[in-house]
Amino acid sequence: MADSRAARILVASNRGPVSYSVAGDGTLEKKRGGGGLVSGLSAIGPDADAVWVCAALSDGDREAVRQGVGEPGSRMIAVPPEVFGAAYNGIANSVLWFVHHMLYQTPLEPVFDEDFRDQWASYEAYNAAFADALAEEAAREAAVLVQDYHLALVPAMLRERRPDLRVGHFSHTPWAPPDYFRLLPDDVAAQVLTGILGADRAGFLTRRWAGAFADCCAAVLGASVSDDGGTLTVTHEGRTTVLGVHGLGADGDFLRERAHRPDVAERMEALRAETGPGRRLIVRVDRTELSKNIVRGLLAYRQLLHDHPGWRSRVVHVAFAYPSRQDLALYRDYTAEVSRLAERINAEYGTADWTPVLLKVDDDFPRSLAAYRLADVALVNPIRDGMNLVAKEVPVVSDHGVALVLSREAGAFAELGEDAITVNPYDIRATAAALNTALTLPEAERAARTKRLADAATALPPSRWFLDQLRALGG
Ligand code: F6P
Repeated sequence: MADSRAARILVASNRGPVSYSVAGDGTLEKKRGGGGLVSGLSAIGPDADAVWVCAALSDGDREAVRQGVGEPGSRMIAVPPEVFGAAYNGIANSVLWFVHHMLYQTPLEPVFDEDFRDQWASYEAYNAAFADALAEEAAREAAVLVQDYHLALVPAMLRERRPDLRVGHFSHTPWAPPDYFRLLPDDVAAQVLTGILGADRAGFLTRRWAGAFADCCAAVLGASVSDDGGTLTVTHEGRTTVLGVHGLGADGDFLRERAHRPDVAERMEALRAETGPGRRLIVRVDRTELSKNIVRGLLAYRQLLHDHPGWRSRVVHVAFAYPSRQDLALYRDYTAEVSRLAERINAEYGTADWTPVLLKVDDDFPRSLAAYRLADVALVNPIRDGMNLVAKEVPVVSDHGVALVLSREAGAFAELGEDAITVNPYDIRATAAALNTALTLPEAERAARTKRLADAATALPPSRWFLDQLRALGG
């Protein structure tokens, strides 16, 4: 990498490409993450003068920053742990995530009190730390791609510091409709929107989320919105921001190759042994986020066993629910509820040689791929989801075709809806009926649908998704 103080392309996200932990003997251990951004960024090659700015998330990360250990081409920002905790857990995960996924139980929450204001001040400080680092690293007129709700204030802050830069912001979540977004205190709602409007382009995963953002800008800020041949623009206080729609797809080449390595084959064998030969598999793979709707998925499966006794002993629900954001009590409670319900279903319907639900909570990527390959039905029923890559990945690696039961509230619905069996994620009876339809889909139709789903799912691989945005910024 050339002089990192003059980066021509910058990416900013809360979670970076590597994380560190302190081993028993005090040395630092490095773990590399995956995901769309990592493969997207790799598409520009090592000579592009790119820098990835991310946050130190853990004590290990902070120790790495202290020791000056780091990846070439990346810079970790270490704000004090209490500031980070308030910004990440307090605001990003407990407020902005809840607003965009519409997760509040509104009779009791949210409560925007003094504690909230303190946390908001931390969120501002954490965003300012990113803006400072980006301003320092960027070459003249460099392109900066800021990611997600963690960093909503960065575009405006950066524009103030470096008006020469070309700034994009991308939301990987849904965007809330105005009535829900306006749960936020008015000044905070305005700050979030004007923060993002500091960008030249604001990107979203679907037209629906872009439209909701535009509606919020009109309702909260009185901004003017226009639709120029399908492209939305928002003009506020003399500045215009273009809203881009880029539906991140699955990385087909990577997945197909990875799914055929021996460790996946081993896990397929193990799964087959655990579920029993010949049984149909309803598979779900999620991080255990409240928005993923795992509990209602289990309730729907129980309803299926109740309504269609013929499936008893002939089907297994393979549910992989990997830990996420366990610092938050609500997430811990939700994780416990998933386990309780799985056990209840197993106690209610299980027999000596049949366990109806196979729940795994330890994260194992090759095992996820094994389940993808074996799935007869994939259950993807989020309450609300920016995109949902699982819905796109399963059809790509499926061995013998898969029927996709898909929530109409997932961003992926916009691209996959026609060949999926669509559900209202709150409707247990309808989801149970959809599971039955999926299990009984004629084989030829299932195969034809899977092919079309896989084509749609890989239409915009991460490398193109990333390069398209860069190009749109004039990079
Ligand atoms: O899946 C949506 C998303 O916003 C991703 O863009 C982002 O990486 C992730 O959620 C954040 O999750 P975490 O809190 O584990 O970093």
